This record gives sequence, C-alpha cells and structure tokens, in this order.
Amino acid sequence: MNRIKPSSQIYSSYTAEDFAVWRRLFDRQMNVLRMHAAPEVLTAIDAVGFTATEIPHFGQLNERLARSTGWQVATVTGIVPPSEFFPLLARKIFTCTCWLRTMAELDYLEEPDMFHDVFGHVPLLTNPDYSDFFQELGRLAEAHLDYPEVIDMLERLYWFTIEFGLRRSAEGLKIYGAGILSSSGETSHALGTASRKHPFDAAAILSRPFRTDVVQEDYYVIDSFQQLVACLPEVRCIVQRAVAGALPIPDASALLM
Ligand SMILES: [Fe+2]
Repeated sequence: MNRIKPSSQIYSSYTAEDFAVWRRLFDRQMNVLRMHAAPEVLTAIDAVGFTATEIPHFGQLNERLARSTGWQVATVTGIVPPSEFFPLLARKIFTCTCWLRTMAELDYLEEPDMFHDVFGHVPLLTNPDYSDFFQELGRLAEAHLDYPEVIDMLERLYWFTIEFGLRRSAEGLKIYGAGILSSSGETSHALGTASRKHPFDAAAILSRPFRTDVVQEDYYVIDSFQQLVACLPEVRCIVQRAVAGALPIPDASALLM
C-alpha cells in the first residue's frame, strides 16, 4: 500500500485511525506480555512510559532515554542498510519509523512500522545489560563493514537475540525479541511446541542463517541479559578468526622461497 512515510515525526499529523491502531495493538500486546514477556521487558515499558492512549512522542521518548542509558531514537522512512544501521547503534542511536500500519493491515506488515520499531525495540534500550550488548554489536559491526561475512554473522546474532530472543525465567519461557513482542501471532508460535528452542549459543548462532519471510523454526534462549554481554568476548574471537581467514592467501611462489 502507498502511504506517506515521513522522515521526521510531526505529531499533529497523526490521524484518529493512527491513535486507534496504536491503542488496539498496545492493548492486545500488553494482554499477552503481562503473562509472557520477560520481567525486564515489563519494567522497561514502564520506564519509557508507553500508554494505550498516546502514540509515543519521539522528543519526550528521547528525554527519557537520555536520562536512562543515553540512547536516542532517530526517525527513518524504512529499513536502513547495515552500513548505516550498525554505526548508528555504536553511537547509541536506534532508527525508528514514525508511521503506523492501517486498521486494515493490523496483522499484516510488508515492512516494520512504528509499532514494531518503537513498541517492540525501544523499551529494552533502558536495560543496562541489553544496552551494552546492543551498542557493542554496533561497534563490532562498524569495525568490520568491509567484511560481508562478518556482517552476516552479526546480523544472525541480532536476529536471534534482538529480534527473536527468548529468556528462561523461574516462571517458564518468556519473550524479549522485538519481532515477538510486537506480534501476537509470533508470540504464540515462539512459545508453542511447533518451534525448536535451543540454549543460547553464540558460536552456533553466528553460523546459522535465518529467513525473514517465514515464521521462525528455531529460537535461542538466554538465562539472563548478562549472558548477552558475557558472550561478547567469544563473538569477538570468532570474528577475528573469520577476518584472519579472509585475508588474501600468500602467493604460492613466495611460499617456496
Ligand atoms: Fe526489528
């Protein structure tokens, strides 16, 4: 569908339908999340002050984020390429759309809208461990933009944590990935028996391709957000090995000398 995708948030431009869509999605997801979200997610939604009646105002949101972990949201019209997205993460800037799907598209999205980007992604930016992990992922990717295979690896890590991560808690399996938090269908699929759950394993994730056009078959389960931070030395080590392997092979004749 053709729609206007503003490059900056003009709050007065939101229509009654936009507010109705936000409210409907917010209420529906919160009903699910109270039962199924990781406790850190619920704390984080409180911290950013999201409510059913108000579409988040990016200016106010940035003030809250600045007082918390120092992140900022920057408005974009759509998906940002890795060469721009990761360096922004390294500077604690998360790119978000500011337009909403229509009521007719409530459960079908051609590309991420503001409900996914903002409701799904932004609250956990206030969690210190999540924040550290996310920024470090950005730094690592920024340092390896010339190595597509490394960017592929780090996109997998992003996918299986930031987008589709699960967390084990004393009350059972909980969700924290934005792709699940912002979709009721994804929630029931992620927590149901039709998908496979694996203990979090950074090395396995870095070598596991993913598909964006199907519901996920595999999820990785962390025990805590500290575990994300703790995996970073191993990730750096694997990345360094990949880079070393990508170096040009010395001229065979030179080896004979
Ligand atoms: Fe996302």
